[in-house]
Amino acid sequence: MIRIALTKGRIEEKAVYLLKKSGYDCSELEEKGRKLVFKIKNADIEVVLAKAADVITYIEHGVCDVGIVGEDTIMEHGHWFHEILDLKFGKCKFALAGIKGKNFYEGYTHKVIASKYPNVTKKFFNQKGIDVEIVKIEGSVELAPILKLADAIVDIVETGSTLRENGLEVYEDVAEISTRLIVNTAAIKLKKLEIDELVARISSSIDNN
Ligand code: PRP
Repeated sequence: MIRIALTKGRIEEKAVYLLKKSGYDCSELEEKGRKLVFKIKNADIEVVLAKAADVITYIEHGVCDVGIVGEDTIMEHGHWFHEILDLKFGKCKFALAGIKGKNFYEGYTHKVIASKYPNVTKKFFNQKGIDVEIVKIEGSVELAPILKLADAIVDIVETGSTLRENGLEVYEDVAEISTRLIVNTAAIKLKKLEIDELVARISSSIDNN
């Protein structure tokens, strides 16, 4: 049996669509209610729904074999697993953003950056050789510069609406992001045949646009 950890929320619908397109019966997932564990009826596969960071935890601990998760979470939480496929959906970017019209790099004052992604933020500024103070925020990070807690944010930008509607703009792109298929390092050997088949079926169903 293969157990897949699927990130609930934003990328869930497209991930279920991809599994269906790959020939897997996702009827239980499509009528999910408040359930968290689902059987794929025409294969020996179980799917669990979890928050992005928890998908990585379950894969790293080996209680799930395969994960479907955004590259943003992978970049923030590390790489103790195999990243097998770029699923080409959930495309967005990490960006440095702040109040519209402000020149972020102007002046020599110590900058405060708010983010849900402190590790990504730290790496970005380390590469530039700029020392910043990072404040971890759990959600709606856009509030931090509005409330003057931070000079800027490092966050995900998809459509750009959240920034626009709150008087903010992108100062600089940090990295492109998409959804990835990841596999536990032991499962890739111990369940090679099953995982190879899953990867081949998903791989041929990816929409390359
Ligand atoms: C993400 C991100 C931005 C928003 C960007 O937040 O943190 O706030 O989406 O999307 P947009 O460019 O299409 O407007 P999410 O909706 O996941 O919720 P959160 O802020 O509570 O984490």
